[in-house]
Amino acid sequence: MTLITPSILSCNLARLQDEVDTIESYADWLQVDVMDGHFVPNLSFGVPVLKHLKTKLPLDIHLMVSNPADRIKEFLDVGVSVITFHSEAVTDTAARKDLIEKIHAEKIPPPGGRGLWGGDKIHVGIALNPETPISSIKDVIEDVDIVLIMSVHPGFAGQKFIPSVLEKVKILRSLLPHLTIQMDGGIDTVTALQCIKAGATNLVAASAIFVVPKEKRGEVIKRLRGK
Ligand code: DX5
Repeated sequence: MTLITPSILSCNLARLQDEVDTIESYADWLQVDVMDGHFVPNLSFGVPVLKHLKTKLPLDIHLMVSNPADRIKEFLDVGVSVITFHSEAVTDTAARKDLIEKIHAEKIPPPGGRGLWGGDKIHVGIALNPETPISSIKDVIEDVDIVLIMSVHPGFAGQKFIPSVLEKVKILRSLLPHLTIQMDGGIDTVTALQCIKAGATNLVAASAIFVVPKEKRGEVIKRLRGK
């Protein structure tokens, strides 16, 4: 089954809690796009916002920051389920492995309820920008739980899907049949089907979900699953 992960980047942030409440019973995970204005040319939000958000959905933190190793502790303290860092931000193999180990060593604090796949382990994702080849993560591909294939250049919601990245998804899927492959950027009810066909199992969408009226969001999420 395809999991759907709404990204709060396209929410009306002045009413964030109300916005998240509209998709709470339909979505699988909730993605928080953390941008530092350096790794990507935009700023977003972080722990000060997140710690007030009430949701039972597993929180999936997409770190678009230059120094993820310096930023993970604050997120671990909030009780997140997934932390994804960018392969382009941490290029050294030892540094990558160290970061992955540090995150894996943590558990979701009680009362929990946000663990994935039934546990209290925190999962690690590694993200690839559209132009970054799969070969660039061969040193840690066996160590991560999730590979995030970006289908736009990160930084902004509402961009056009880049279809050429589907080739990477197909190759990854043939190499690793059980890997969670997440895609993010320009996912709508049309491109979602292409992603699923290529082998993606977790789709992130911001605009396709939060730019439609709240009463239609459940239906959109269902269609994003390919149903
Ligand atoms: C990249 C972000 C976006 C966002 C998705 O900066 O990670 O991809 O979540 O936005 P949409 O779904 O509007 O392309």
